[in-house]
Amino acid sequence: MIKTRITDFFSVERPIIQGGLMWIARAELTAAVANAGGMGFMTALTFPEPESLRAEIRKCRNMTDKPFGINLTFLPTLTPPDYPAYIRICIEEGIQFIETAGRNPEPYMDQIKSGGIKVLHKCTSVRHAVKAAKIGCDAIGIDGFEAAGHPGEDDVTSLILVPLARDALGDLPLIASGGFADGRGLAGALGLGADGINMGTRFVATQEAQVHSNVKQALIDRSERDTRLIMRTLRNTERVMSNTAVEKVLEIERRAGDTMIDDLIPYVAGRVGKGMLEEGQMEIGTLAAGQCMGLIRDIPTCQELLDRIMDQAEAIIREKYSQLS
Ligand SMILES: Cc1cc2nc3c(=O)[nH]c(=O)nc-3n(C[C@H](O)[C@H](O)[C@H](O)COP(=O)(O)O)c2cc1C
Repeated sequence: MIKTRITDFFSVERPIIQGGLMWIARAELTAAVANAGGMGFMTALTFPEPESLRAEIRKCRNMTDKPFGINLTFLPTLTPPDYPAYIRICIEEGIQFIETAGRNPEPYMDQIKSGGIKVLHKCTSVRHAVKAAKIGCDAIGIDGFEAAGHPGEDDVTSLILVPLARDALGDLPLIASGGFADGRGLAGALGLGADGINMGTRFVATQEAQVHSNVKQALIDRSERDTRLIMRTLRNTERVMSNTAVEKVLEIERRAGDTMIDDLIPYVAGRVGKGMLEEGQMEIGTLAAGQCMGLIRDIPTCQELLDRIMDQAEAIIREKYSQLS
């Protein structure tokens, strides 16, 4: 067992977190992570109606008696979601932890805190981590450049971000995110000063992730070189799996003049990504995926995955310790 500030913070056995995964982090996956001793976050915006989040929270509670939380992502969207309604439902349903991401959660902190909920803010730079600590976030996750989804605009990898964030944050619980997929990553992250790891891409290739088998197979088949950065021209960079649609997006972005979001929508709209996940049409749109794809070779259950990560990390730490003279 590895006990850290993060296992204490969430009251879980293992310092492994399943962060927000749009359309994917539903009750089945999050409960499986919780039952395997990790901490899972269901993604609120997967449920277009706030009331359907309430139903999913209840469903997840029926599947596990362990802690789990809700991810609230503040990103530019075509139709701004009713964030206060999602937060109200979290409070009413007794959720204890919210993972915020994308933007500064400050406008919602008072409402979240009024329900006694603790906030883990996931960001992509040390300056944003410091700001999050200042406004009262209780724990910080930091996404390195390797990460799937939105790794920010600074292009700094986890190897640098994590120790710098630790230096800047003192004793605040810190989660390394971006590039982690196995026990070597966990042992490395702890060495860098993190209290645990957050994984996104790796959890998509698990038995309990409710996505088409083509998506899981693609994560096995593709390598660490098969991601691309799209929407850089809009300063809303997203790391995605390379495919035909992504090449089309990049071609539009290379054209002279400003990129118009309307030109990209046929490829990047959420409904297209949802279709890929459900129907397994891997070339029609964009799908967030991280460089750690290169480390994914199978589709275990969450229990098998977490057991394996812990065994490997503990073996590494023991072996290195025994080499000390
Ligand atoms: C398919 C997919 C969807 C994601 N959706 C979200 C999301 O809605 N909100 C969020 O905060 N992070 C989202 N992420 C990012 C992950 O929570 C996590 O920060 C990231 O994947 C870590 O990097 P890794 O993929 O190298 O593990 C997503 C990642 C993937 C792979």
